[in-house]
Amino acid sequence: MSDMTESLDRAWQHREPLVASLAAEETDSYRLFHGATEGCPGLNIDRYGGLVFVQSFYEELNEPSRRDIGAFFEERFGGEMIYKDRSRREHGKEQDSSRSPSENREFICREGGTKYVVYPDHKGLDPGLFLDTRAARRVIRERACGQTVLNLFAYTCSLGMSAQLGGAREVTHLDFSRTHLDMGRRNASLNGLDEEGAKYIVSDYFPAIRQFAGLPIKSRSRPDPRSGKKQFHLPSFPSLQKEQFDQVLLDPPPWSKTFFGTVDLTNDYQSVFKPALLATKPGGVLFCTNNVAKVTLEDWRGMLFRCAEKAGRPIRECEFLTPESDFPSPDDQQPLKMVSLLV
Ligand SMILES: C[S@@+](CC[C@H](N)C(=O)[O-])C[C@H]1O[C@@H](n2cnc3c(N)ncnc32)[C@H](O)[C@@H]1O
Repeated sequence: MSDMTESLDRAWQHREPLVASLAAEETDSYRLFHGATEGCPGLNIDRYGGLVFVQSFYEELNEPSRRDIGAFFEERFGGEMIYKDRSRREHGKEQDSSRSPSENREFICREGGTKYVVYPDHKGLDPGLFLDTRAARRVIRERACGQTVLNLFAYTCSLGMSAQLGGAREVTHLDFSRTHLDMGRRNASLNGLDEEGAKYIVSDYFPAIRQFAGLPIKSRSRPDPRSGKKQFHLPSFPSLQKEQFDQVLLDPPPWSKTFFGTVDLTNDYQSVFKPALLATKPGGVLFCTNNVAKVTLEDWRGMLFRCAEKAGRPIRECEFLTPESDFPSPDDQQPLKMVSLLV
């Protein structure tokens, strides 16, 4: 048995109880191999239904290793393997899809019986469904009945769609990428969800959330983030009414810079957190994530409490969630931190 096959076998055995319980709830999408903590840093292997999606981030995977991976999972569930070498990719920039979904290969996978479409050729690192937020989708669905929900940085709408499936009264998805929201619409129609129950707003985060929160939109000139030249007029943005929601879902990327502001989860979580907090009804729930590994849970928790106190909306209760066991973390320091805040 090769070293690669041995590592895959260990990871598979570790997952057997989880995979059995996921299969019982009609979930066929999970991480098969989490290289960072399973002996091969930079190698991730995910299952999305019939797709075995292999990505290497530090170096190109050699031919024998690719063959071993293909053969190992072919024997277990007959998945089609697609490999992406990400080692030469420029990191740290949030990018929109370069190709429209219709030009890409697509696979349909399931989580808790819900169907999701995934595109392995999508330009981003994720093909359309973040697997480590499964625990969040579970909880959001259980607690959404009758609520109004705002899904910020919606991407393919998985968190907000879980709320709609859980009986939310109305879900508003917000993202600056029309391509991502169109993928979300496709997910909703795959699951027979009512068009009336959801709104899709294509907008930058900052002007949209500040309008919901009743805060002014900063209009001072800003340098063009690409050319560095002064930009005197902000691009246009949709006009929205001030509104508070029963549940607000805040799952931002680690970093993103536009004319309207910077999302920087390492140095300035407050700038995204405070307006989202003010757009949450008193007594409502604000669900937040931070997936920057070097930000510790303790530091992030402290910042959230201080910021909420200062904004006059103190946190009454908080409940942390962790990714499920297909994302093993022997030191309990998960890069992805998730918390549900009663505010
Ligand atoms: C990490 S994904 C969010 C994951 C998503 N919540 C989910 O459950 O799958 C980041 C998303 O934020 C969007 N985004 C990044 N910067 C943005 C901004 N300034 N305004 C609006 N959307 C933004 C991207 O288009 C992308 O869809």
